[in-house]
Amino acid sequence: MLTEIDHVAIAVRDLDTAIAWYRDALGAEVEHRERAESDGVEEALLAVADSYVQLITPTRDDSPVAKFLEKRGEGLHHIGYRVEDCASALERMVQAGATPIDEAPRPGSRNTTIAFIHPKGSFGTLIELVEE
Ligand code: CO
Repeated sequence: MLTEIDHVAIAVRDLDTAIAWYRDALGAEVEHRERAESDGVEEALLAVADSYVQLITPTRDDSPVAKFLEKRGEGLHHIGYRVEDCASALERMVQAGATPIDEAPRPGSRNTTIAFIHPKGSFGTLIELVEE
């Protein structure tokens, strides 16, 4: 079912500061940058082989990522697993007892189709299914 780790998402307070640090310390370059107003988040994708590090920062105070930063501080936010078929992967996870955040797949960044799974019931990890 899983074809790749699509991305590892890290919540940061200042996107440009984090981008500069990843460039200087790890030589990682931004491949894609996008604001998703519906999710209240701005992201930068840094390529690592065929996967990404996804730096995310809130665009408004009431976004889920803003609440995450307030509660937990900067750090690992979620893991994106690349799948061939987001709908069937979501169905399988729900059948296995996972708690979906998205009841059905929806559009994600860079024209992907995504669905989030709640960390409760997933060993404390927020999971995103990503279909390219
Ligand atoms: Co993500």
